[in-house]
Amino acid sequence: MNKTPYFISTPIYYPSDRLHIGHAYCTTIADAIARFQRLAGKDVFFLTGSDEHGQKIQRKAAEVGQSPIQYVDHIVASFQMLWEKLGISNDDFIRTTEKRHHEVVQAIFQKIYDQGDIYKAAYEGWYCTPCETFWLERQLTDGKCPDCGRPVEMVQEESYFFRMSKYQDRLLKHIEDHPEFIQPVSRRNEMINFIKQGLEDLCVSRTTFDWGIPVPFDRKHVVYVWFDALTNYITAAGYLHDPEKFAKFWPADVHLVGKEIVRFHSIIWPIILMALGVELPKKVYGHGWLVVEGDKMSKSKGNVIDPVLLIDEFGADAIRYFLLREINLGQDGNFSRDALIKRINSDLANDLGNLLHRTLNMMQRYNGGVMGQAEAPTTADEPLLTLAKATPFRYRTMMENMDINGAIKEIWQLIGRANKYIDETEPWKLAKDPAQSARLDRVLLNLLEVLSMVSVLVEPFIPTTSGRIRGQLGLPLAVTAEDLTALDGFGTVGAIQPGHRTGKPEPIFPRIEEKTEDEAAMEKVEPAAAKPATAAPAVPEQKTIPAVAPEGTGEISIDDFAKLDLRTAIVTAAEKVEKTEKLLKLTVDLGTEQRTIVSGIAQFYTPEDMVGRTVILIANLKPAKIRGIESHGMLLAASNADKSALSLITAPNLPAGCKVK
Ligand code: MSP
Repeated sequence: MNKTPYFISTPIYYPSDRLHIGHAYCTTIADAIARFQRLAGKDVFFLTGSDEHGQKIQRKAAEVGQSPIQYVDHIVASFQMLWEKLGISNDDFIRTTEKRHHEVVQAIFQKIYDQGDIYKAAYEGWYCTPCETFWLERQLTDGKCPDCGRPVEMVQEESYFFRMSKYQDRLLKHIEDHPEFIQPVSRRNEMINFIKQGLEDLCVSRTTFDWGIPVPFDRKHVVYVWFDALTNYITAAGYLHDPEKFAKFWPADVHLVGKEIVRFHSIIWPIILMALGVELPKKVYGHGWLVVEGDKMSKSKGNVIDPVLLIDEFGADAIRYFLLREINLGQDGNFSRDALIKRINSDLANDLGNLLHRTLNMMQRYNGGVMGQAEAPTTADEPLLTLAKATPFRYRTMMENMDINGAIKEIWQLIGRANKYIDETEPWKLAKDPAQSARLDRVLLNLLEVLSMVSVLVEPFIPTTSGRIRGQLGLPLAVTAEDLTALDGFGTVGAIQPGHRTGKPEPIFPRIEEKTEDEAAMEKVEPAAAKPATAAPAVPEQKTIPAVAPEGTGEISIDDFAKLDLRTAIVTAAEKVEKTEKLLKLTVDLGTEQRTIVSGIAQFYTPEDMVGRTVILIANLKPAKIRGIESHGMLLAASNADKSALSLITAPNLPAGCKVK
């Protein structure tokens, strides 16, 4: 039987910099949907990639003295490494610098020109290079880019223009006739308003730089980067190169994009397709932004979160789970380390981890890991079994509607019910009475069946964990479309038969010792004060101290000690770091220079206490960014084991800059 095709894409990201957690958020959502659609029996084509041309990339490359291709090759490799680490199951990765893409862009530019929808004229207007967007004077906000708020540049050049205005009414009608085309509905309304204000013809070529695809009939021009980038979706689907594939996968089922680029995908892109006579994508979904403490992530604010570091610390599934569970797809959501740790501990370690662990433990203790002949269910089993029967349908409906958050809540409701069922049925009492052995088997069977269901349903979100759960349950590791279908017959077709063997319980998510953001930040600044000398510090840059300690003895040589540049410094100014409990920002005078230090001592010293003190500073410690402030050095302090008392090491009678030996 031919499977129904399903095409989902992410935006192709700019390789102007490494990707942050916001990009990982978008790709994780797309991955969860792609994985779900595969489980639902579809033939899925999941596409992501990189948008490599344009003025921004050319400038960035020049800044570091590289050619654009050298520059992007390196960054694109980091994208691919990130997606692998995060368990992203994309079927293709398109780079706009590939030959297959150049050919398509040039062919469609030529076609649209030949039919008279692209014409040459003079362009004069504003350009935002970070967004690669043209703006009219009246569209600017306080003279800046209305999207990103950064300065715009005046552009005056000969350009080719695309007759967008000609297609305005057709596009509006399409949007009005297809309520599902732009989602969520708030974005749809924004787009309708935007189009009703009147569409200008779009400048689709540039002449003042050359990092782009040449216009085929006029080599002075390169194709405007958004015209080039949007085309990636049909290139990868096989347009012009693989008609069979194109007929199968086009139109795309959903272009998943961030809310700031819905306009490009629901106005410019459909009009390009209309001009080509190609069907429009079925849906453009604009997801919300991930913000950090309510603030947009940006390098200048120093609040950019690196997903690679997070995955190394917590594991890919924990990050995936957090992103998918914590944030409602259409809305902005907040990322915080505290919230991440809370989710891991409560949902993954506690709810899911405990259910698996308790069940398998009881299987080992009471049944030697072998399922017995269970008696028929009783009324005591009904609440759990009724919920389990209803869950797959609700889950499917939510996933089809891209309500990922809702689908995850459904699964966790079932997990919660199953944990409660253990408390209600008290299997430890049943185990003491041989006459109750078939009843005990029923309780264990229900729990195993529910866990088997959970292992299927969570696969799109936490694929590695799904396999680990299945391994422990004694089921085939990979989940298939047949497994999801079988859940519809829950209670009639059992995954677990008498004689089935389960494995030994292994913790799937160890609890994370809860640290507040302040504590984590404090460790970054003051590892020596908070930890014994041989402990590993929290941040890699500070590896200098333990690295010199020979393993096991904790001894260092005098030469090792001499590597520390310890000096007296006088605190000249002090203030609390906003929105933190434990951090003080200090200005210290070293005699030869002033330094800024962030120190986790605010619970023990007020800013007033600090001004005028002569403290001891590790002056040659690599600077670290803490809460967006560059801290250059570390104060010495001693604290007791539970960190309830802390005392700074001071040198009251000495001037600034004295060496401590
Ligand atoms: N290259 C264009 C897209 C071309 S698609 C034909 C581009 N690239 S980008 O690198 O800036 O990536 C933008 C996308 O990354 C957003 O649309 C969104 O999906 C994702 N995100 C970037 N920052 C994000 C957050 N802070 N939060 C959530 N998603 C974020 O625009």
